[in-house]
Amino acid sequence: MPFRIATFLVASVVFAAGAWGLGGARFIWLGAWLGALSWLGLDAWRGGLLLRALRSDAAALPSRGAGVWGEVADRVRKLLRERDQQIRQAEERLQEFLAAIQASPNGVVLIDEQGRIEWSNQTAAEQFGIDAERDLQQHLVNLVRDPAFVAYLASWNYSRDVVIDGPALSSRRRSHPLRLSVQVHPYAGNRRMLLTRDVTSLEQAEAMRRDFVANVSHEIRTPLTVLAGFVETLQTLPLDASERSRYLGLMAQQSHRMETLVNDLLTLSRLEGSAMPAVNQWTRMRALMAHCEDEARGLSGRLSPQQGHRLSFVIDADSEVAGIATELQSAMSNLLSNAIRYTPGGGEVVVTWRTLPDGRGEYAVRDSGPGIAAEHIPRLTERFYRVDRSRSRETGGTGLGLAIVKHVAQRHGAEFRIESTVGHGSRFALIFPAGRVREARAHLR
Ligand SMILES: Nc1ncnc2c1ncn2[C@@H]1O[C@H](COP(=O)(O)OP(=O)(O)OP(=O)(O)O)[C@@H](O)[C@H]1O
Ligand SMILES: [Mg+2]
Repeated sequence: MPFRIATFLVASVVFAAGAWGLGGARFIWLGAWLGALSWLGLDAWRGGLLLRALRSDAAALPSRGAGVWGEVADRVRKLLRERDQQIRQAEERLQEFLAAIQASPNGVVLIDEQGRIEWSNQTAAEQFGIDAERDLQQHLVNLVRDPAFVAYLASWNYSRDVVIDGPALSSRRRSHPLRLSVQVHPYAGNRRMLLTRDVTSLEQAEAMRRDFVANVSHEIRTPLTVLAGFVETLQTLPLDASERSRYLGLMAQQSHRMETLVNDLLTLSRLEGSAMPAVNQWTRMRALMAHCEDEARGLSGRLSPQQGHRLSFVIDADSEVAGIATELQSAMSNLLSNAIRYTPGGGEVVVTWRTLPDGRGEYAVRDSGPGIAAEHIPRLTERFYRVDRSRSRETGGTGLGLAIVKHVAQRHGAEFRIESTVGHGSRFALIFPAGRVREARAHLR
């Protein structure tokens, strides 16, 4: 301020002195007045310049000039620079925040009071089948027309989520239709945030669990009912010794069936829950095959005492396989017992072990049995899946054998291959990776 007064006085004095020099003492006041006026004019002009610059482009502010206006311009420029920086930082934070929501595996949609889309992440756009850019400001209910969803959005009661079918577009790309869980969270008055979650696999797992429990109950109930029937007969009817022993024999069969079922279920859950087998426990194939052969001959003799089966065991290479011997044995025996049980007496069953040119090892069981129709093959390894329930039940099968084989194969990194032609027999093979197969050590031979 003192500077302003000083310049004002200087201007007045200079003009007054000029006027005195030019016209004499009479003109001193006129000079001083003209000086003051010029100072005011100059001041107003500089103020005007600053104001114009502020109105149009802040960058055009005069750089550090003298006097009050210079300082005002300088401070305004500094303030503007700070504000720009704050805006840029806020913008960056917003972008980071949006990028984080984009990266979320869940879908997020923001809608305004009228239900128009304000923003959506890519996941939600894909799940709802909308376009995150093009459909902005569109009413969401015009794009997602599921009646359950429309009613849910209009209800303003969002204590629970709603589960709807995904759009037809994405269901065509998938083997299963998409199932979406949508939950709305109101915020900032009447605005709403929708969180979407793909619950397809969750629902599938839940359905599988229900099927599994139903299957287990059914499989246990059948022998249990038969057993209860026999108990009742024994309790109520006067039976002679031979009849009694026949009934007891049948009862033993049923309880054995239940025991097998429970054992198989336990084996499966053990296989699912235990750690992967190490690659440093080697078992000789010849030993596993010998055990299989003993079991197979016994089973064939029991099932078909007159004709039996033509069984042959061929070992092309004396190899060792890395893995858990009991699991390998169980998988190999399962395949072999199937071949014998489903091939009528007199049929042929050939079991081979060989190493393939690329170092992998193949255990295969080929039979001359009835074969399996192509539509059943992909489902054989499902738990409780049987091609012919009545036939399988006759032979005491529960439909868990191949599920166990598949698990053992997976755990040992082996490929499980099933080839079969109706009327021409079947071939089940386990192909172990080269890393798990080696030539038997000399001292073992
Ligand atoms: N070698 C085979 N020839 C023809 N059908 C077969 C053969 N192996 C399996 N199957 C069919 O595949 C189904 C599934 O076999 P899996 O071994 O899983 O069950 P299972 O033999 O019925 O019962 P489990 O093995 O649990 O006692 C069988 O019910 C049978 O219909
Ligand atoms: Mg079986």
